[in-house]
Amino acid sequence: MDIAGSVALVTGAGRGMGRHFARQLLQRGAAKVYATARNPERVDLPGVEVLRLDIPDPASVAAAAAVATDVSLVVNNAGISTMANLVTGEPADVRREMETHFFGTLAVVRAFAPVLAANGGGAILNVNSALSWFSYDGANAYAAAKAALTADLNAAHGRTPVGS
Ligand SMILES: NC(=O)c1ccc[n+]([C@@H]2O[C@H](COP(=O)([O-])OP(=O)(O)OC[C@H]3O[C@@H](n4cnc5c(N)ncnc54)[C@H](OP(=O)(O)O)[C@@H]3O)[C@@H](O)[C@H]2O)c1
Repeated sequence: MDIAGSVALVTGAGRGMGRHFARQLLQRGAAKVYATARNPERVDLPGVEVLRLDIPDPASVAAAAAVATDVSLVVNNAGISTMANLVTGEPADVRREMETHFFGTLAVVRAFAPVLAANGGGAILNVNSALSWFSYDGANAYAAAKAALTADLNAAHGRTPVGS
């Protein structure tokens, strides 16, 4: 996948790695970069197209896919870290980890796969974590959600998960 000339979309582009991805994509010759965020007013990068996108919200994902119909490269970067423990943490935090990393990322993949196909193909980069392979107290809800994302990727590629 060539970045130069591509039309890219980055989730969670208001800060952190997402902001850096969006800036790098522009610097490396992307023709257009949709810098998306659940609070778009926080996106401060010059040269990008700002779009609202809250990844676990189906209406928000559908609205973004209806606008960004020229996308050929999706960077699924958005993520959270609640530090919730699966046994003792707040159930709502455990659920939010899964809603964001697994269901939210999957929703973006499902919404934009047809967009990429209509544009002649492209690429989707899902930003995962080494914590999908191991866990520690304080991050195991995050780790479980990233492991679920790994299973999603294995399914998409028809791969057998490592170790089975
Ligand atoms: N930093 C690390 O060491 C590390 C290591 C491995 C993997 N990762 C992964 O890399 C990605 C980026 O991490 P980071 O360190 O840059 O995190 P970060 O600084 O906390 O930024 C997270 C970004 O995701 C956005 N986001 C959160 N929930 C969202 C939602 N529902 N819809 C849309 N955007 C949402 C945030 O937006 P708001 O500003 O609205 O909160 C923010 O822009 C994540 O997927 C993370 O799990 C990070």
